[in-house]
Amino acid sequence: MIRGGKSGILEARPVDAEEIAWLQQGLRNVGFFSKLGRAQLEEVLPYMLLVRYDKGSIICEEGEPGDAMYLIYKGTVVVTKKDWGEPVAILEEGHFVGEMALLFGDPRSATVTTVCQTEAFCLAAEDFKRIVDKSPDMTRTLRRLAEARRQQLAHS
Ligand code: CMP
Repeated sequence: MIRGGKSGILEARPVDAEEIAWLQQGLRNVGFFSKLGRAQLEEVLPYMLLVRYDKGSIICEEGEPGDAMYLIYKGTVVVTKKDWGEPVAILEEGHFVGEMALLFGDPRSATVTTVCQTEAFCLAAEDFKRIVDKSPDMTRTLRRLAEARRQQLAHS
C-alpha cells in the first residue's frame, strides 16, 4: 500500500486523538470529508494510517497502479506530469491526492512528490471502496473533483 524502498517514509502509524479531532472538526468544509457523516468517518478511522514522509518523497508515481489515496494533514506536495514544463498543482493541508486511480481504475495520472516533510492520512483502496459504496453523495462530490482534475490534465 505504501511505497517502500527509496520512498522516504519516516513513520507510519494509526491516527491519534488529536488527528481524529482534526478529521472530525477541521474538515467539515473540505470536499471529500464534508460529505462524510460522523458515523462513516468513525468507521473509516481505524483503517487510516498517518504516514510521515521526508522532503522529496514520491507518494504516487505516474503510470503505476493506484492502491491508496492520501489526505494531506501537514506539509505540501507538488503534482507533476512527464513532459510538462510546469507543475500541474501544488497542494497543502486538507487536500487529497491519489483518488483518481481508485475512482477511474486507471494508472496514476501524475507523480506526487513532497516538497517538505509532509504528513498524510493514507486510506487503502479496499477501505476507500468500503466508504464509497456506503456514501453515494460523497462519491459524487469526489468524482466531480476528480473529473475536473482529469479535464485539466487533458487540456494542457
Ligand atoms: P492519481 O491519478 O491516483 O495519482 C496522481 C494524483 O495526482 C491524482 O490521482 C490526483 O490526486 C493528482 N492530480 C492529478 N491531476 C491533478 C490536477 N489537475 N490538480 C490537482 N491534482 C491532480
